[in-house]
Amino acid sequence: MSASGRGTFFLETFGCQMNEHDSEKVAGLLLARGYEQVETPDEASLILYNTCSIREKAAQKVFSRLGEYRGLKSDGKKIGLLGCVAQQEGEDIFSRAPWVSLVCGSASYRKLPELLAKVEAGEQRVTGLDNDTDETFETEITRRDNPWRAYLTIIEGCDKACAYCVVPFTRGPERSRDSARILQELKQLADFGYTEVQFLGQTVNSYADPSARKMRFSELLMEAARVPGIRRVRFTTSHPRDFTPDIIEAMNADPVICNHVHLPVQSGSTRVLRAMQRTYSRAEYLEKIAMIRGAKRRTAITTDVIVGFPGETEADFDETVSLLDEVKYDGVFSFKYSPRPNTPASSMADAIPEEQKSRRLALLQERQRAIQVQTLRSLEGEIFEVHVDGKSKRENSWYGHSSCNRVISLNSSQPDLLGQYVQARVAGCTPNSLLGEHVL
Ligand code: 5AD
Ligand code: SF4
Repeated sequence: MSASGRGTFFLETFGCQMNEHDSEKVAGLLLARGYEQVETPDEASLILYNTCSIREKAAQKVFSRLGEYRGLKSDGKKIGLLGCVAQQEGEDIFSRAPWVSLVCGSASYRKLPELLAKVEAGEQRVTGLDNDTDETFETEITRRDNPWRAYLTIIEGCDKACAYCVVPFTRGPERSRDSARILQELKQLADFGYTEVQFLGQTVNSYADPSARKMRFSELLMEAARVPGIRRVRFTTSHPRDFTPDIIEAMNADPVICNHVHLPVQSGSTRVLRAMQRTYSRAEYLEKIAMIRGAKRRTAITTDVIVGFPGETEADFDETVSLLDEVKYDGVFSFKYSPRPNTPASSMADAIPEEQKSRRLALLQERQRAIQVQTLRSLEGEIFEVHVDGKSKRENSWYGHSSCNRVISLNSSQPDLLGQYVQARVAGCTPNSLLGEHVL
């Protein structure tokens, strides 16, 4: 039992940044309720597990972890499942793992206080599974884990209908937060000492202000950049369809808005993009890339790619590889297609054999590695501003991120650089990061 008597909680999180940030809000809510956070399930009276179901492997992990928790119920511990797997599997969780007493999807987190009250009162099968909400998850207190970069959700859910994706089912329809509330939260963050913020959303640039102010996404970025104390404003993930010129104009107008765009393409073949229902062709996507390349500052572009979507031919795959050659991305997150429940693609014909998917993934990653090394080498001698967010084990060695989100490690004779913004000259690189020297 904690000092305040509610108990102790252990919260483990898998999945995307949205999930990480949801967990920060859940933790804030539990702390406000009088719980104390602990580092291991052993010490906890309440074990919460925030789950991801984007690919099958992630979802399987949940059930193996739940298996480890079997038997803990008889020790008096309560176990709850949150997030995307909770939403997807719903009450079935109780039959597969009867030791679980709470199942709650992200669209129901607003109800967590009342759901927790039921769990505390000893109810065995408590659920929060409504998905047709128009509400967002607002909390008074968020327990932020990253002291240097504050995550801030501006839009929840997703209204796109990509044929492979489970998110519209697990996170519900798109809901944007009131711009005034977002800016108010940002001012608070600045007062707490945060200098860098990252706006989050599954399709962050589809933001549609529900208030009378009707602020556009680009206007929100500009307003955020003007908040005193805020030195960097980032955003992720952007949907190509909604990536409009005014976003680039905002980035041009105010360098506080970071010069990095994460713009998932998924495939380089227009035929596959159609089958995926991505709502753009290869040529239309490349127009967006040209627009970003036309920005005043050199802007880093990263992407997500899926290989082995049903019906993907060798020729389609070659088009994805040629797209990587053409765009020269600064980073690519690539995945083998994984069929997900309820999605249109899960019943499509022409599934690609696993060995083919693995071969294509390896080829793609190899190609991207070569492209990245070339880009990183070309940066030698350039100077970047680094927001230092970590200390390496080596003496006098630090690392951090540039505005374009590159990881840069640097040597410095200064005693403590954590949290500072410093200039670093690039002296070399590893396959994924830059090595710099502190410029005094
Ligand atoms: N299989 C493989 N990858 C997927 N993604 C989303 N759904 C699937 C799926 N069913 C990838 C996409 C997305 C990223 C977050 O995960 O590339 O952009
Ligand atoms: Fe995983 Fe998507 Fe849910 Fe994030 S929103 S946790 S990526 S399934």
